[in-house]
Amino acid sequence: MIKNRLLLDALNGDNVSRPPVWMMRQAGRYLPDFMKLKEKYDFFTRCKTPELAAKITLMPIEQIGTDAAILFSDILVVPQAMGVDVEMRKELGPFIPKPIREAKQIEKIVIPDVDDNLNYVFEAIRLSKQMIDNRVPLIGFAGSPWTVLCYMVQGQGSKNFDIAKSFCFSQPEAAHMLLEKITTTTIKYLKSKVKAGVNVIQLFDSWGGLLSEDDYQKFSWHYNQKIIDSLKSKTKIISFSKGCWFALPLMAKSGVDALGIDWTCSARNARYLTGGKVTLQGNLDPSRLMSTPKEIEKLTKKMIAEFGVQKYIVNLGHGILPNVPVDNAKAFVNTVKNYSV
Ligand code: CP3
Repeated sequence: MIKNRLLLDALNGDNVSRPPVWMMRQAGRYLPDFMKLKEKYDFFTRCKTPELAAKITLMPIEQIGTDAAILFSDILVVPQAMGVDVEMRKELGPFIPKPIREAKQIEKIVIPDVDDNLNYVFEAIRLSKQMIDNRVPLIGFAGSPWTVLCYMVQGQGSKNFDIAKSFCFSQPEAAHMLLEKITTTTIKYLKSKVKAGVNVIQLFDSWGGLLSEDDYQKFSWHYNQKIIDSLKSKTKIISFSKGCWFALPLMAKSGVDALGIDWTCSARNARYLTGGKVTLQGNLDPSRLMSTPKEIEKLTKKMIAEFGVQKYIVNLGHGILPNVPVDNAKAFVNTVKNYSV
């Protein structure tokens, strides 16, 4: 039985004494111990060695004291398992040497046997669960099919993913064929993650906000909904679609247990658009962790007052930035842990 049940209670909509807190991308980047491992092992070695991935997964719960752990991995292990090479380059980030640009490439893309190809992820989950020893829940995750397509087609990170969008609008049939394949793989992958022991899953739709409302429905949410329908009887689901405030009414009816909110949408608007029924997660601007600890405390208290203590998970509005001082991350988390109504 998991001892710290705050996250699970908030996801159930049960009453809590204070809201739970964790941070997107909390495992890594800004942590000095992570930087030491980063000097020794390249990115995918860290992901693919269960002992390393589990060690990194535990760092934030031991060093910062968050109410949940999130598995150290990456959304791009899914295209790798589908036979697409993905590298992690030092200054550039993800790099796909042969990006997808034509229908005939998509025909060759395989729906892998995830239990074989991604076994290292499930091993990392089993090991992390052992090491967490029921202190907190473990979150597993996947990218939304749209966000994964963005990288597979663009070939690298981008501000506007122009090549990926042109591909979808000029070759929609091919795009939907690719989105279907990513969706099928992601469903199998997340089911195996749940079997391996994760307690919650989060879908990251980091680039959903690049689409118009109609295109978001067609190219992104349609596939997220399929994933939610296949997983919702098996686990708790958080869906985070950055920049997609316009889709909140639709997402609130989808069967998810919580919706992630970024900092451009106020608590008031988010509660209004979701009808006040769904648990919400977010939404401090990650750059705000560069303010002083005192200022962080003030902003965090204000945020809790605005969202309310119930049906709320304190988080950032996107991933923590690499240059955040550890003491500032602690100030954020400790403010929530000391919060009393
Ligand atoms: O939340 C966690 O702490 C778990 C780990 C995690 C990573 N990536 C580790 C990582 C998670 C949840 C992700 C998700 C992810 N990966 C997303 C969705 C979330 C988001 O931020 O929008 C996306 C778009 C990716 C793709 C990706 N991976 C990018 C764009 C980059 C380079 C830029 C960066 O974030 O530094 C990565 C590399 C990556 N993934 C790093 C880490 C810790 C940094 C590189 C390194 O440590 O060598």
